[in-house]
Amino acid sequence: MIIFVFVIVLSITNATLRHGHGSNAVVTDKEYLKRYAPDWDDLDTRPLPEWYDRAKIGIFLHWGVYCVPSFGSEWFWSNWKGGKAKYEKFMTNNYPPGFTYQEFAPMFTAEFFDPEKWAKLFAKAGAKYVVLTSKHHEGFTLFPSKRSFSWNALEVGPKRDLVGDLARTIREEGMKFGVYHSLYEWFNPIYEEDKKANFTTQTYVDTKLWPDIKQLINDYKPSVLWSDGDWEAYDTYWKSTELLAWLYNDSPVRDEIVVNDRWGIGTYGKHGDFFNYQDRYNPGKLLKHKWENAFTVDGQSWGYRRNVELSEILSTEELFEQIISTVSCGGNALINIGPTKEGTIAPIFQERLLSLGDWLAINREAIYNTSPWDSQNDTLNGDVWYTCTKTTYNARNPIAKPSKLDSITAIYAIFLEWPTDGVLTVRDITMHLHSGNYQVEMLGNDGYLNWQISGGDVSIQLPDKAEVKSEHAWSLKFTLK
Ligand SMILES: *[C@@H]1O[C@H](CO)[C@@H](O)[C@H](O)[C@H]1NC(C)=O
Ligand SMILES: *[C@@H]1O[C@H](CO)[C@@H](O)[C@H](O)[C@H]1NC(C)=O
Repeated sequence: MIIFVFVIVLSITNATLRHGHGSNAVVTDKEYLKRYAPDWDDLDTRPLPEWYDRAKIGIFLHWGVYCVPSFGSEWFWSNWKGGKAKYEKFMTNNYPPGFTYQEFAPMFTAEFFDPEKWAKLFAKAGAKYVVLTSKHHEGFTLFPSKRSFSWNALEVGPKRDLVGDLARTIREEGMKFGVYHSLYEWFNPIYEEDKKANFTTQTYVDTKLWPDIKQLINDYKPSVLWSDGDWEAYDTYWKSTELLAWLYNDSPVRDEIVVNDRWGIGTYGKHGDFFNYQDRYNPGKLLKHKWENAFTVDGQSWGYRRNVELSEILSTEELFEQIISTVSCGGNALINIGPTKEGTIAPIFQERLLSLGDWLAINREAIYNTSPWDSQNDTLNGDVWYTCTKTTYNARNPIAKPSKLDSITAIYAIFLEWPTDGVLTVRDITMHLHSGNYQVEMLGNDGYLNWQISGGDVSIQLPDKAEVKSEHAWSLKFTLK
């Protein structure tokens, strides 16, 4: 009897703690406390943890042994062994005959790696979460995997637990920490055996993959598990549904973990807390399920390339366009940069990130905690992207257009091109302004703006550009008087 009462009290406390974000008519606490069966139908019913939808902006870091050759891309080993001429030539010209990829690892020195400095940079850039490659397809782990003998960052190269060191400073700066993790490993002989058996054996999954993921989750308690390298086998081989049921039911991060959609052939765009689809996916329209645009600031590579050209780096305008269009359509932007083997972040990446931080310092309320509005980009002027803020969070479909029950607190129109005559003409907000109940201001500037309605469009008189604080993109805020 006493035990029974205790359990109930514990459950209520848990319910309040787990999703205590105020009123939520859509998802009851009981639904948050359910246990998930290891099948997609049930796993797909999970409400999205609120922090993730509100965060909008994350930093993605591709760091591993490929930063030593730092040539081509993070696929260096596979491209070289696959006989691609560019890579073979690079090796013959620069390394002695018989040189192995493994011999690069001691040169991954990370002697300038300062996790406090990195975390401060990402926080200044306005990121709310950071996702680090704990293991890419090469198999080298940035944490001391107990099953990656002499092929992990504590034993070879940096001689430190890079995942642990960064997790700590990222959290100290108030951000969430996540890990990328590749399911497959190009040249792992145990994986190759399973593959040879047409994935009818699962020795790799049982002896390497699962124990490694459990070590990662239990030791570092990441808020994001960003899965990749799934495409050679079905989810049944990877035992993906069992893994997610464990994550959602019993893992130490069951309340706040979010996962993407790369869990075996045919799963992307179908299953997961958020969908990535392909790399750099940005549909330019509203989707039905929470999604994320994972893209690289170096347009050619996720890992650092020593011979990257300035022309291959996203311009600030291009970077902002990606982020703004993504958020307007209900996505999060996961901005990738590749650190160097020495543990530094190239100044060009720092510059882009700090420009973003400067912009967000002025325009933050048009991005964070927003939801998609009735229109995404304006019907008349497609360079204008809308967002809005609501009083409620819909965990079942956080990116649905506002419903009649939603109370909208502000509408934002972010525009990427400053009109030459200083007048911004748009269509989709006209009805609201026509009502006479709204006022318009520009974020970062004092005072309200004047407008004129004509033929269904509204022309808004912008402030003098010389007095405007933002560069590259500007946010108008529409609120009820
Ligand atoms: C390999 O497995 C797949 C899916 O399990 C099956 O469709 C295919 O026929 C198998 N191929 C061979 C050669 O056994
Ligand atoms: C809105 O954005 C999409 C995606 O970038 C684009 O295809 C479309 O043309 C834009 N709409 C207008 C009216 O320009």
